[in-house]
Amino acid sequence: MSNRKLVVGLAGYGVVGSGFARALEENRDLLYRRTGCDIVIKTVVAKESEANLAHPLPQGAEFLHDIDAISNDPEIDLAVELMGGMGVAAKFIRKCLENGKHVVTANKALLAEDGLDFFRLAGEKNLYLGYEASVCGGIPIVQTMREGLAGNRIMTLSGILNGTCNYILSAMTAKGQSFTDALKDAQRLGFAEADPTLDIEGLDAAHKLVLLIRLAWGVEYPFKDLPVQGISKVSAEDIGFAGELGYRIKLLGQARMTDGKLEAGVFPTLVHGESMLAKVDGSFNAVWVKGNAVGSVFLHGRGAGDLPTGSAVLADVMAVARGSLPNNTGFVAQQPLAATLLCPSQAISKHYFRLMVPDRPGVLRDVAGILAENGMSIAQAIQKGEEEIVPLVFMTHDAKTASVENALKTLHDKDLLRAEPVSYRVLAHQ
Ligand code: HSE
Repeated sequence: MSNRKLVVGLAGYGVVGSGFARALEENRDLLYRRTGCDIVIKTVVAKESEANLAHPLPQGAEFLHDIDAISNDPEIDLAVELMGGMGVAAKFIRKCLENGKHVVTANKALLAEDGLDFFRLAGEKNLYLGYEASVCGGIPIVQTMREGLAGNRIMTLSGILNGTCNYILSAMTAKGQSFTDALKDAQRLGFAEADPTLDIEGLDAAHKLVLLIRLAWGVEYPFKDLPVQGISKVSAEDIGFAGELGYRIKLLGQARMTDGKLEAGVFPTLVHGESMLAKVDGSFNAVWVKGNAVGSVFLHGRGAGDLPTGSAVLADVMAVARGSLPNNTGFVAQQPLAATLLCPSQAISKHYFRLMVPDRPGVLRDVAGILAENGMSIAQAIQKGEEEIVPLVFMTHDAKTASVENALKTLHDKDLLRAEPVSYRVLAHQ
């Protein structure tokens, strides 16, 4: 075979960095057979001292603290950025691209919030900017969108994009736990970070959704404009009622293109129990895409972890080793077009409501009347309890978000609510 060699500099040696190095080492022969290229990690840069590294270094790699040792090294062909964060990582990626190095990164926050310049620069220099590991860890969704489904007009995309949230919601569903108890358990077992804000407030899923939207439609949904709601207010009570109605509550990232308008957001959403997304449990991720030619495609797998995410990094590194042409955005243009956004208040879906109301004659009539005045038709209802304040639970037929908001405001103004109302969207079933 050939004597080709790909020299890699690795910045960041935590869980993912060491997983990538391990997968590379364990599968070395296979990688050579597949690429005809010897992939060598020349330099590892991390902020820890070498003695404190949790994982052994790749054989023959030099360990350093200065990331310029990668960006300035003319022998390094490809930089793998697995440090995370914004400032230092951004400078590093820019410098590597300017110096003619291909870049592979798992940095979804940077690419989603501030990534367009990197795609422009990589495009101008004909360099590979790989980010398979940024979206759903080991699930090959970037390559699938960029290549496997490239011939499709994508209609909808719905995904469980955050394993921490899915783990917590699954535990709440299986054990009837509160959010707080399920989060504590998840932290104790290593499924949630000590500071879980990015995950539980939906921001991590939102970063991934922005990247998926670019891949699906070649357009930009500005991160700051994306409607995002996390799971910290989801209660065991609502999970219970959703279950009685035949649904599970999942944190979904969703996007759909209707009549040229893009609607997207991250929300706790009721998913029908028979849907494949409802069956995705624990820390797993899944993405369900509908294309006009292929129909439905469902991908499921591990969204985090050393070897699964390492596998995604490796796929990008191997694309460079094969000498594949860069296809970073999946479109000829390396800058996405501005999306025509559907105003979030005009989004249409079925809705779940839980309203805490005084248990007095006529209250059901009053509430149903207000929903009807706002064009909402009730599909299912549950009323339980014999206390002074009782939950009224409804599932509606399709309704606009604006109608839902207006109905809730009227219910509040007419003093019919005794607690903060709960309303969640319901995913259209297959
Ligand atoms: N923290 C993420 C999750 C994995 O819980 O899915 C990295 O994005």
